[in-house]
Amino acid sequence: MNLSELTKNLPYNRYCIITDKNLYKFYGKELKGFDVIIQISGEKQKSLANIEKTAEKLTELGLDRGSCLIAFGGGVIGDFTGFLASIYMRGIPYIQVPTTLLAMIDSSIGGKTGVNLKTGKNLIGTFYNPTKRIVEPALLKTLPVKELKNGIAECIKHACIKSESLFEFLEKNHKKILAKDPDILNKLIIQSSSIKEKITELDYLEKDTRMLLNYGHTIGHAIEQASNYKLSHGEAISIGMHQVNLLSKSPATKIVEKLLKLYGLPTETNLDKKKIENLMQTDKKKTGNKLRFITLEKIGSAKISTL
Ligand SMILES: NC(=O)c1ccc[n+]([C@@H]2O[C@H](COP(=O)([O-])OP(=O)(O)OC[C@H]3O[C@@H](n4cnc5c(N)ncnc54)[C@H](O)[C@@H]3O)[C@@H](O)[C@H]2O)c1
Ligand SMILES: [Zn+2]
Repeated sequence: MNLSELTKNLPYNRYCIITDKNLYKFYGKELKGFDVIIQISGEKQKSLANIEKTAEKLTELGLDRGSCLIAFGGGVIGDFTGFLASIYMRGIPYIQVPTTLLAMIDSSIGGKTGVNLKTGKNLIGTFYNPTKRIVEPALLKTLPVKELKNGIAECIKHACIKSESLFEFLEKNHKKILAKDPDILNKLIIQSSSIKEKITELDYLEKDTRMLLNYGHTIGHAIEQASNYKLSHGEAISIGMHQVNLLSKSPATKIVEKLLKLYGLPTETNLDKKKIENLMQTDKKKTGNKLRFITLEKIGSAKISTL
């Protein structure tokens, strides 16, 4: 990836790349020629204290309203950088260069940015689209398979709610996807990201259609929390998708379970049921509404239900 070439004709006076330690270790050489701010990797980075600290670094580096940030990383770097760009000097442009499968097909699309509070994840944030997304599937070569699977779980979600053909593609190519075959990954990224793009274009502010993207997430989030984040997001929503299928007696239950298992994703948990239910109720209080689930009528067709 040649970022100097890719940014050559853009109208900004200077750039600052925000990335993390892991990525800098692999790609530091390719980021030469730019100012770079290196964050710790992981969710802890998404804090307001870190936003303040990083914004101060930007002023020290001389970034002004004519400058541009570049998020070079996974969803954590993307959410953090997008939020910073949306408030630094009342908003400056930013470019997303997603480096995880999840970021390529999900978090870098749709304009949600944000950081965490001690009281919950993503509770402070904005809707703020990047001016450009640069997707380079070759960056996935260095991504650990555990992280790849987080992205695969979201691809399965996209297929379940919107695309039977993507579902079949995921069935047919599971070995090649897990082996990171470049052509197949490329096709997967194109198909899966176009689903998120279409849904978020239709309903940017999440009033209705965008909620379909929460398939598996109401139960999944509660499971993720109940496990004290020992389960990854992909594992938790995989269990969430299967469990909501069971709960709603979806005709697609068996076929989805089979696909999740092909990727070695879990569908059950031994975690305390009561604890999970209580955590879902807290979620309900946050929205002030009845607990809503996304349910599957068949592969490619989902709806909002109160079960
Ligand atoms: N804005 C949205 O719409 C949206 C949607 C989904 C998720 N998210 C957010 O995304 C975050 C999760 O993102 P994620 O799953 O990409 O995790 P992540 O950003 O934490 O990245 C996972 C790990 O992989 C490493 N890594 C990233 N790219 C790599 C590469 N190419 N090679 C080697 N290592 C690499 C990172 O350093 C990190 O340790 C969460 O904070 C979540 O809230 C946001
Ligand atoms: Zn998710």
